[in-house]
Amino acid sequence: MPPPESSRPDAALRVGFLGFGEAAKTFAAGLRGRVGSMVAFANGPRSHPPYSAALRAEAERLGVRLVDTIAALAREADLVFSAVATPAARAVAEETAPVLGAGHTFVDVNAVPPDDKEAMARLMAARGARFVDAELMGAASLYGAAVPLYASGDGAAAFRDLAGPLGLNVTLVPGAAGAAAALKMIRSVVTKGMEALIVEAMFAAFRAGVPEAAFAAVTEPMDAVRFSDFARMCLTTDPVHSERRAQEMRSVAEVVRRLGVEPIMTDAARRRLEWSARFKLRPATGDQGFADYREVLRRYDELDTAARPQGEEP
Ligand SMILES: NC(=O)c1ccc[n+]([C@@H]2O[C@H](COP(=O)([O-])OP(=O)(O)OC[C@H]3O[C@@H](n4cnc5c(N)ncnc54)[C@H](OP(=O)(O)O)[C@@H]3O)[C@@H](O)[C@H]2O)c1
Repeated sequence: MPPPESSRPDAALRVGFLGFGEAAKTFAAGLRGRVGSMVAFANGPRSHPPYSAALRAEAERLGVRLVDTIAALAREADLVFSAVATPAARAVAEETAPVLGAGHTFVDVNAVPPDDKEAMARLMAARGARFVDAELMGAASLYGAAVPLYASGDGAAAFRDLAGPLGLNVTLVPGAAGAAAALKMIRSVVTKGMEALIVEAMFAAFRAGVPEAAFAAVTEPMDAVRFSDFARMCLTTDPVHSERRAQEMRSVAEVVRRLGVEPIMTDAARRRLEWSARFKLRPATGDQGFADYREVLRRYDELDTAARPQGEEP
């Protein structure tokens, strides 16, 4: 995807990529011709110095020069992206920190837990470099360089101001490094949870001999509403209707089980709804639900805290 027309080149900016796979190449393609220079260093099982002729050719096509050491990359870049294999992310940050200084911003796009991002931020702070916990909220192959990037950490605001005009799509997440990583993981509860729900429902539908009809029954009502309206409705009506919905899920689980499918997600949904129902929370007026989903979350927070013995973990 080409960068938006409104993007402004920054001839003074020197960009470096640690790792030169799908994510780094996608950003390089978007930044090509819009920054002063781009270099990359990779040290994986396939891509490592001396680089293959094919990788060199690909780098050249993207306007990137491959360098042979992390130290060389640090000398030739101010904005350093780390987009390596996920398990290597922390070690790469540890290896890179000693060659960084006050002029550097280290942008870690690797999908690692908040603790790792916090540790990386401490390493960078000790060198006077800025750190950005940047999370790709989608596939680079799908969005190109405009893939939504959620960013937190001490370098996040400056990174947004720098990279936004170049066509990158940066959204600030309030808080220190780790906040964006936590947000990405919380989002996975929904994205991966929906996958598991859909698989369970559709497998039961297949066993019932109605996969196409069930697919339409599940997707068509969802296609007709905006997802944000649906999510708001779920939250604002949950206090009022969760008890009834939990009871229904007991029958649903029985049906699913009789079809020869273990009702894993169905049972989990019932347990979450029973958790809500236990609070017997009702709006001050009306019986349709709350006006604001944040009010529901605030009240659940109070009630859950009051119900839990002090210090007990969920
Ligand atoms: N691509 C996406 O859409 C996406 C979405 C969300 C998050 N991410 C995150 O972005 C990061 C990069 O993803 P990707 O899809 O670009 O992966 P990728 O295509 O596998 O590229 C990783 C690159 O890093 C190199 N590498 C591996 N270990 C290294 C090390 N120790 N030091 C230096 N370079 C090393 C790899 O070399 P080899 O070629 O030898 O393996 C490759 O060039 C991952 O941590 C992932 O969690 C990516």
